[in-house]
Amino acid sequence: MSCGYEVEARVRQRLHWLAMHGVIRGLATMAARRGDPQGRLVADPAVRADPVPFYEELRPQGPLIRGRISFLTVDHGVAHELLRSEDFRVISLGANLPAPLRWLERRTRTGLLHPLRPPSLLAVEAPQHTRYRKTVSAVFTPRAVASLRERVELTAHTLLDRLADDPGGSGVVDIVDRYCALLPVAVISDILGVPERDRARVLQFGELAAPSLDMGLSWSQYRRVESGLAGFNRWLDDHIAELRRNPGDNLMSELIQASDTDVHLTDEELRAIAGLVLAAGFETTVNLLGNGIRLLIDSPEQLAVLQQRPELWPTAVEEILRLDSPVQLTARVAATDSVVAGTPVARGEMVVLCLAAANRDPAVFDHPHRFDVTRDNAGRHLSFSGGRHFCLGAALARAEGEVGLSAFFDRFPEVGIAAAGTRRDTRVLRGWSNLPLRLGPSRAMVPRG
Ligand code: HEM
Repeated sequence: MSCGYEVEARVRQRLHWLAMHGVIRGLATMAARRGDPQGRLVADPAVRADPVPFYEELRPQGPLIRGRISFLTVDHGVAHELLRSEDFRVISLGANLPAPLRWLERRTRTGLLHPLRPPSLLAVEAPQHTRYRKTVSAVFTPRAVASLRERVELTAHTLLDRLADDPGGSGVVDIVDRYCALLPVAVISDILGVPERDRARVLQFGELAAPSLDMGLSWSQYRRVESGLAGFNRWLDDHIAELRRNPGDNLMSELIQASDTDVHLTDEELRAIAGLVLAAGFETTVNLLGNGIRLLIDSPEQLAVLQQRPELWPTAVEEILRLDSPVQLTARVAATDSVVAGTPVARGEMVVLCLAAANRDPAVFDHPHRFDVTRDNAGRHLSFSGGRHFCLGAALARAEGEVGLSAFFDRFPEVGIAAAGTRRDTRVLRGWSNLPLRLGPSRAMVPRG
């Protein structure tokens, strides 16, 4: 690369960051100092460390709260309604920026796929959305997903065998690194035909790109995200080309075939769909497993209930999704002038839906901050969103949660916390980046059911 080109690329990248994140970050920091809720959500480190007290501060302010940049809701009823409303749409990255920044963003963006930019499923509505979803559902049939459960079990036990054989010199294991991250990546890689040798690399791209869902990134975070997205884009191109030449017995090969013959997706559409399924497949479930392990170790009486009544594991997974939601937020924009909970919302205005806060709405959940693996309406959480963008991987994530957590606690019934652990530095996604545990003695595998 010539020096002139490198400088130009760097200037372009800097301008793109400024348009996408830098200005918003500056404004949000100022707004946060004045107590603005959206500003605090973007820029307050205390909210990032633990958003629950912040959600509870907002709750008395009503079902729809006006911030400087957008509306926010922590209300279950409002979030549920907006996710299903035809009057509210998903937001494409950059579309809601003020006009001059939008102009700059368009002129400086790279052609990299981004989970929040069309043709990603998360950034389009009908008719494209309907067509893309049909394509994925045709491959991700309930039968295909049911058959994945066995694969999940096999993978979980293989990883747990390895942990039991090699718990590390000090007996302390970072369970995120050794289990929670590996199970979803192994499962989704099997499904999508990702060879063993590529998995660590794909996991690393995902880790780098995870903050891509957040607003107001710092320059260094932004650069890490861009390098993760660039690496992932390059790898995905090669992977799709390889599966086109040598299709295998996996859902990605089926998706490619369907896109070439039946539904006629463009290459970009195919890459966006396949890339999102792959990334969503491991960037979220890792958090479900880590959050669940931590919650259950911190609540031994709840773990004891599950040990007595293993049929409650599915409810426990719903309760973990409710109480420590792996995806905390999403947003929608008004497609037309509307009224929400009695407040007018003009066309083009954005509403941030705090899914994790809706999951603690006392109007729906009794004692909402209590962790209760017998809670009969735990499944009413909004952690998988709702309406037409409802998570396409929910059944798989539930299977991974049930099998992954129950198998772990069956194998290591005396596991305990070895050190405090650290949370991931992301706002939309919430989970542990490391969680050091002392595993204790391992029990032989007990097959279930
Ligand atoms: C605990 C794990 C998971 C959680 C909490 C989760 C959460 C979500 C949420 C909240 C959305 C919708 C966002 C919105 O409405 O704006 C979503 C969409 C999606 N998820 Fe998941 N997800 C999980 C696992 C998975 C897995 C394992 C896969 C793939 C195998 C997956 C694939 C997708 C796809 C493709 C979409 C886009 C659907 C659409 O826009 O129509 N997810 N997920």
